[in-house]
Amino acid sequence: MGVEREQHTSSSPSETIPIVDLSDPNDELVARAVVKASQEWGIFHVVNHGISTDLIERLKEVGKQFFDLPETEKKEVAKRDDSEDFEGYTRNLKYTEDEVWADNLFHRIWPPSCLNFNYWPKNPPQYREVVEEYTKETKKLSERLLGVLSEGLGLQHDALKKGLGGDKTEYVMRINNFPPNPKPDLNLGLPEHTDIIAMAIIVTNEVPGLQIFKDDQWFDVQYIPSAITITIGDQLLRLSNGKYKNVLHRVTVDKEKQRMSWPIFVDANPDVVIGPLPELITGDNPSMFKPITCKDFKFRRLFKLPVD
Ligand code: SIN
Ligand code: FE2
Repeated sequence: MGVEREQHTSSSPSETIPIVDLSDPNDELVARAVVKASQEWGIFHVVNHGISTDLIERLKEVGKQFFDLPETEKKEVAKRDDSEDFEGYTRNLKYTEDEVWADNLFHRIWPPSCLNFNYWPKNPPQYREVVEEYTKETKKLSERLLGVLSEGLGLQHDALKKGLGGDKTEYVMRINNFPPNPKPDLNLGLPEHTDIIAMAIIVTNEVPGLQIFKDDQWFDVQYIPSAITITIGDQLLRLSNGKYKNVLHRVTVDKEKQRMSWPIFVDANPDVVIGPLPELITGDNPSMFKPITCKDFKFRRLFKLPVD
């Protein structure tokens, strides 16, 4: 795609990213708004989502404290060079164009059988407790949204959850740190991409930077203090046979300010087949995607091999 590289500007569009109030007593309206936003945008904000501001603040605090540690201490949870898995801390700060300008920490948070606490920071000491509490809350939010999205496909409430592996669906914490960057017009925090996972549940600090691409233009994603941002990834695109949109997005950097984000990734179990849910396929609605295991799908996407 011919995306301008020199200046990461966005237009001032008349449309804005939808905001869904999850406390609205009219479930039907909430469901319709979530489904519409997922179909048209692949991104929306949720407010009154049930996760306390205090917990979100504590999550941000422990994440920031970790990234403020000296490099030697952060390296205690570094991703191993010989590891084929993604878990651990990595530092990717380069000035060259097209490179990622972000440090990040990645580790699974669910299910308990998948956890490797070697990659969870020991400092600050309350890190684990806060992340465990946040995991429970985001899992509830995720299952609520997956339920609504399943019904939006005309299926049972638990269809997408089952399609992602039921109780073996994985949840992954990623903390991104985008330090001030001397060349914000040349660098991106993260280059444009769609997420290879099902759905991301994102909180950020107050510095904007996330941009999404829709209708041939980049939109700034506003920072809304009490909101959580939800993005749809490749796995829900495939499971829904193309109905839910995997939003293309990127992250810009700021010359003076540090940006941080805390996405939780809802990710299919590696052995699950990531193809359209069979109930969706009819003569009028043929399959748009080849069934492939999640493990193979990710491998092919990461190494830029064709999938369908
Ligand atoms: C991402 O997960 O691509 C970045 C989200 C963000 O930093 O806002
Ligand atoms: Fe992403």
